[in-house]
Amino acid sequence: MGGKITLRDLQRMKGNEKIVVITAYDALFSALFDAQVDAILVGDSLNMSFLGRSDTLSANMDQMIYHTAAVCAKVQKSFVIFDMPFGSYGDKKSALANAVRAYQETGADAVKLEGGLEKAEIVRYLSQNAIAVFGHIGLKPQSVRSEGGYLIKGKNEAQKREIIEQALALEAAGAVGLIIEGVLPDVAMEVTQKVSIPTIGIGAGGGCDGQVLVWSDMLGFFDTFVPKFVKQYLDGGNLVKEAVKNYAQDVKSGRFPDASHEY
Ligand code: KIV
Repeated sequence: MGGKITLRDLQRMKGNEKIVVITAYDALFSALFDAQVDAILVGDSLNMSFLGRSDTLSANMDQMIYHTAAVCAKVQKSFVIFDMPFGSYGDKKSALANAVRAYQETGADAVKLEGGLEKAEIVRYLSQNAIAVFGHIGLKPQSVRSEGGYLIKGKNEAQKREIIEQALALEAAGAVGLIIEGVLPDVAMEVTQKVSIPTIGIGAGGGCDGQVLVWSDMLGFFDTFVPKFVKQYLDGGNLVKEAVKNYAQDVKSGRFPDASHEY
């Protein structure tokens, strides 16, 4: 594969090679992640991990564009997905206007929006207008207030049927991939087998075509609550605290700066 990963590459990977996705919100981290992953999601989770809000609902287009443009500035290889924020795709016309903005003002390769059957017409409209769209089904963080919490889906037959129907409807509408979040593993696996587009799981077991994690979760920077589906690959928060503590002690004691740091 060499060069920039395209939609066709992701499609070819389905069933052959797992697709590795991570979130990023700025150029510093997208540069660090780029060579290691296949795709970067500029998720509206930035509203929580980056801006300290309690959910994603107050993220807006200006913010998402600011962060996605920063991510794209240092990406050479990875496929970049722009997360459409809450309220930016309520109807076809505004969804298209916002998706066009995302394309024109960032280097994103695709957009992602949350929802199933009820969003199929919007996905169709965007696809007909040359926008590559990822659907996001199962646990939908933007529905946290309307559903009264972050609810795991696929726990009974009715929910399982609904998720499969949503996936098929989104694929039929032209979605180029699906994020499946917070869904029982057998359901996510069945969706993956039934659709011909790549599925990327988060809290959905190992049966999807790929996996996405929020970078601050997997690198141990956000430790107030560690969801069950997160594997931490670094104790980032403690490493940073320790390093800054050492810096503070050096400055207080006069050990830093010393002659070796002087001009
Ligand atoms: O906003 C985000 O980071 C996401 C992932 C959790 C899939 O949508």
